[in-house]
Amino acid sequence: MSNDRLHTASPEFTAKSRFKPEDYDRLYAASVADPDAFWADIARRLDWMRAPTRIKDTSYALEDFHIRWYADGELNVSVNCLDRHLATRGDKTAVIWEGDNPEVSERLSYRELHARVCRFANALRNLGVGKGDRVTIYLPMIVEAAVAMLACTRIGAVHSVVFGGFSPDSLAGRIADCGSKVVITADEGVRGGKPVALKANVDEALRRDGTSVVETVIVVRHTGGAIQMQAPRDRWYHTLVEGQPDTCDPERMNAEDPLFILYTSGSTGKPKGVLHTTGGYLVYASYTHESVFDLREDDVYWCTADVGWVTGHSYLLYGPLANGATTVMFEGVPNYPDTSRFWQVVDKHKVTLFYTAPTAIRALMREGEAPVKKTSRASLRLLGSVGEPINPEAWEWYWRVVGDERCPIVDTWWQTETGGILITPLAGAIPQKPGSATKPFFGVKPAVVDASGTVLDGAAEGNLVLLDSWPGQMRTLYGDHQRFIDTYFRTYPGTYFTGDGVRRDADGYYWITGRVDDVINVSGHRIGTAEVESALVAHPKVAEAAVVGCAHEIKGQGIYAYVTLNKGETPSEDLRKELVAWVRKEIGPIATPDFLQWAPGLPKTRSGKIMRRILRKIAENAPDQLGDTSTLADPAVVDSLVKERLIR
Ligand code: PRX
Repeated sequence: MSNDRLHTASPEFTAKSRFKPEDYDRLYAASVADPDAFWADIARRLDWMRAPTRIKDTSYALEDFHIRWYADGELNVSVNCLDRHLATRGDKTAVIWEGDNPEVSERLSYRELHARVCRFANALRNLGVGKGDRVTIYLPMIVEAAVAMLACTRIGAVHSVVFGGFSPDSLAGRIADCGSKVVITADEGVRGGKPVALKANVDEALRRDGTSVVETVIVVRHTGGAIQMQAPRDRWYHTLVEGQPDTCDPERMNAEDPLFILYTSGSTGKPKGVLHTTGGYLVYASYTHESVFDLREDDVYWCTADVGWVTGHSYLLYGPLANGATTVMFEGVPNYPDTSRFWQVVDKHKVTLFYTAPTAIRALMREGEAPVKKTSRASLRLLGSVGEPINPEAWEWYWRVVGDERCPIVDTWWQTETGGILITPLAGAIPQKPGSATKPFFGVKPAVVDASGTVLDGAAEGNLVLLDSWPGQMRTLYGDHQRFIDTYFRTYPGTYFTGDGVRRDADGYYWITGRVDDVINVSGHRIGTAEVESALVAHPKVAEAAVVGCAHEIKGQGIYAYVTLNKGETPSEDLRKELVAWVRKEIGPIATPDFLQWAPGLPKTRSGKIMRRILRKIAENAPDQLGDTSTLADPAVVDSLVKERLIR
């Protein structure tokens, strides 16, 4: 092993862990040598209405492209997450809901959750929602979000969860793209003591083009805040479920029937509707959840992600519930009422497995050790990280301060597109190096390629591709299969291109270096530079805009915008604030530019293409690394941008 600091799980941990140090190489080799046998065996963890006999049927070759897993199998996701646990775990807590207000929490047993899901599924069916219909869910982190998602799966409807922080415009685009008949929302959300006007946002969204497909808006009364109900379109959730039977016939779904759509940012154009299907996704989410988090029957598992992101789908809801685990759902934020909140919740509910994002760790690290150390955290036994590269300093702090040097850390690399974790330590079996996601999960075949697509061996740095399919892989972009193939399978033919850069060290450990496309990873959330640019140019005073990522101490990456105003407009501090607020309103607070530099002109090639490479270097405060500027139409533009740069 190299000299990187190695963290090996303690003998106490390894004594009980699912995987031992000697297991990994052997199991991994078997999983890739005979994927059919391996994944046939793993699929037995689910309850199938018809057991699959066809296992892996995939080809990345462009002339014969297809991805099918368990194609003749039939199952229902809600049955796997609920019904099958009733006999043995009916009274076990399925969901612990912790409110934004620390005085409020709720525990739901598997039996109660099952009944609530069935009642709502019946209500949806009564509204005419059935197999294949799309339903948009725009809810805060409340139990009804889990109920709504599971109820959709009960009746075969395809949910599209939209993060509550997205603007009416972003919501409208996502509703229109998949043609949802029904939108499920709440009067208001509440985060850090402040209300979020969800229903008002839906009202606003439904005034936009393309949203007239929506027949019904179902509204959960959460805060009791004042809202407008518009008859006959708007219906209260509580009146719809009243009197509904607490059983509901589950729809028989083919393994390859769509399960959900989740929109994510790409490098160009509008957000992409990533589509996951039923069988392979659930096999993969549940198996990785059990393996990576070393799940045991008595664990209390807490993933801090919002259900609006893929992490909230796979590792807050579907993975844990398919495994019969107790999952914590937290409505609030890490710094409300104070910066001890995460650890207070850990102590309150005796959380054993904790999964969060590096951005949260860095933000809490800045507050010092005291807010952590005044809590016990003795229940914790494993910590996880997801969403962006974790810098070794944050890793060590997480290990030392949060985990008291007792809890292994799993740094899990994956994407909305991958459905589940692909590169990760298995805590008992793979020693961890701070900052490295370590090794591929079973059945996963990563490779490092150079710019021309040549696969590099041994220690190497380049772009990360996957050579073969795994069950949790996305199947298409909703309504645009060609874009799916073009985006992921054409850059390096025969492989799935992740969009990430990577280094593999001499020990075969993978170190993700970040996106190599025009996607910025802000606090673990993907923002397309093109989305922010089109929001900026939609402002009447803006002529042109270019957006790049920049280093940000807490968020990992920040948003750095260069803006050229229309002739006759003058830059001012007020206008800068107005533009920043404009982007927040157009997309949502997560897309707020951190820096906005006035640009008299943008560096362009003679054919008019903006040279982002140069803009990135200026935003990195590396004006001496601009490289070749000889192809620029007007090199003087660069000098003035360098002179006026905002990060020094
Ligand atoms: O760049 C990688 C980064 O997040 C991207 C995927 O973002 P998203 O689809 O929103 O999913 C986030 C949650 C899975 C990846 O392309 N990323 C995610 N996890 C890690 C990471 N980068 C480094 N290390 C990770 N553990």
